Formats: sequence, structure tokens, C-alpha cells
Amino acid sequence: MNIAVLGTGMVGHTIGSALIRLGHSVKMGSRTKGNEKAVAWVTANGANASEGSFSDAAAFGKVIFVCTKGDGTLDALRAAGAVNLAGKVLVDISNPLDFSKGMPPSLFICNTDSLGEQIQHTFPDAKVVKTLNIVNCEVMVNAGKSSPNDRGTMFVSGNDADAKQMVVGNFLTPWGWNDVIDLGDITTARGTEMLLPIWVRTWAATGNGHFSFKIVR
Ligand SMILES: NC(=O)c1ccc[n+]([C@@H]2O[C@H](COP(=O)([O-])OP(=O)(O)OC[C@H]3O[C@@H](n4cnc5c(N)ncnc54)[C@H](OP(=O)(O)O)[C@@H]3O)[C@@H](O)[C@H]2O)c1
Repeated sequence: MNIAVLGTGMVGHTIGSALIRLGHSVKMGSRTKGNEKAVAWVTANGANASEGSFSDAAAFGKVIFVCTKGDGTLDALRAAGAVNLAGKVLVDISNPLDFSKGMPPSLFICNTDSLGEQIQHTFPDAKVVKTLNIVNCEVMVNAGKSSPNDRGTMFVSGNDADAKQMVVGNFLTPWGWNDVIDLGDITTARGTEMLLPIWVRTWAATGNGHFSFKIVR
């Protein structure tokens, strides 16, 4: 499948490479075609990897992974172009983290709204699925990374049931997520985005980013 990865940071690189390993063709998008980090990623990932602007990538992808800085995500998607997002599944991994006052970051959207909802409201013709945002990127693509025999729980949020099922079947399952809870519509992204404050503090307290949350029931 042709897939767009919007974002040239560690999440874009890790997700992009994991998608290539699953046999997909991936175009990484950034604000500028020829972005140094995107070119380095293409060089490292071979013939099924390519790069371009946010718009080039979104036009290419049948599925679009949103791996952009939280406060730049809506601008990145506007640059990608509503026409290139319409009818497509947007896997939103971004978090509304505000680092303006240093560490730990706060959330610039919370409680009564979420970044996932803002994406869905801004691009009503896209099918936004919020997931994977609650773990480090290496754990996203390898659920057993934190503890091989005791994997965590992954959540999905979104208005389109088929889109959520497609994301689980094509990506979460191959990446080892064997306990997935469908929380419901995109408003449930408020819950997973608001896990970030406890994620950040657990990481600070333990010095280990390779962990996941588990719902015991
Ligand atoms: N790091 C993790 O393990 C992890 C885990 C869970 C969730 N997340 C979330 O995943 C997202 C990506 O994180 P990251 O650490 O890989 O990278 P990041 O540094 O947060 O984001 C890098 C990307 O954001 C784009 N960007 C930054 N400001 C922008 C703006 N004003 N307008 C448009 N685009 C802008 C950059 O574009 P250019 O390419 O043009 O520079 C780049 O592609 C974040 O939302 C983060 O909270 C990260």
C-alpha cells in the first residue's frame, strides 16, 4: 500500500521504517521537499522510501500517518491539503504538548477538546483514528519492547468503525498489539491525550521510556 508519513522526527522515522518492513511504499512529508532528515531516512530505507512536501506525501498516501509536532499539526495538514486528505484514514499520533514553560510539558488542548477532534473538525472528510500516541515510538512498532511477555494495552479512537478496524488489522496487530480497546468516537481522544502527563512523569521517575499502560480487567 502507498502510505504517507507526515513528519521527519523520530516518530516519522520509526513509523516509516516499520511500514517499509511490512512491505509498504512510504513517502515522508515535511514543510520543504528535500528536508535533510527526510533525505537521510530515504537513503537508509531503500527503493520503497521517498520524500517530498506534506502535500506530495498526502497525495501519494492511501493512508496518512500524522507524526508532526502538536502545535504544528493543523498547519502541516493544511499544507498537505484537504483535497489530499478527503476520504483517507489519518492515523493521528501527535500530542498537544506545550514545552513553552520547559519540562514537564503541559497540554495546550485538554478536558473538553483534543487535538484528534480538532483535526477531525478541520478536515471533516478525513477518517481520523487516534492511536499509538501513548507510547514511545520504538514501542509503537514493537509492543513487546517494554516487556515481551506482558504487553500493554493500546487504544483507538475515531468516528469510523471500518477505519479503526483497518488500522488495527494492518498496523497494530503486526506491531504486536494484542490487547486493543476501541474507546469510541474521536472525542475519546481526550482520554488518551490526557495520559501524556502521567507518561512524562513515569519516564522522568524511572528513566525508562520503554513502557506501556495496561488495563487489567
Ligand atoms: N517521540 C515519541 O516517541 C513520541 C511518542 C508519542 C507521540 N509523539 C508525538 O509524535 C509527534 C512527532 O514527534 P517527534 O518527536 O517525532 O517530532 P517533532 O519534533 O515533535 O515534530 C517534527 C515534525 O513536525 C513538523 N513541524 C514542526 N513545527 C511545524 C509547524 N509549525 N508547521 C508544520 N509542521 C511543523 C516538522 O516539519 P519539518 O519536517 O518541516 O521540520 C517535522 O516534520 C509529536 O506530536 C509528539 O508529541 C512522540
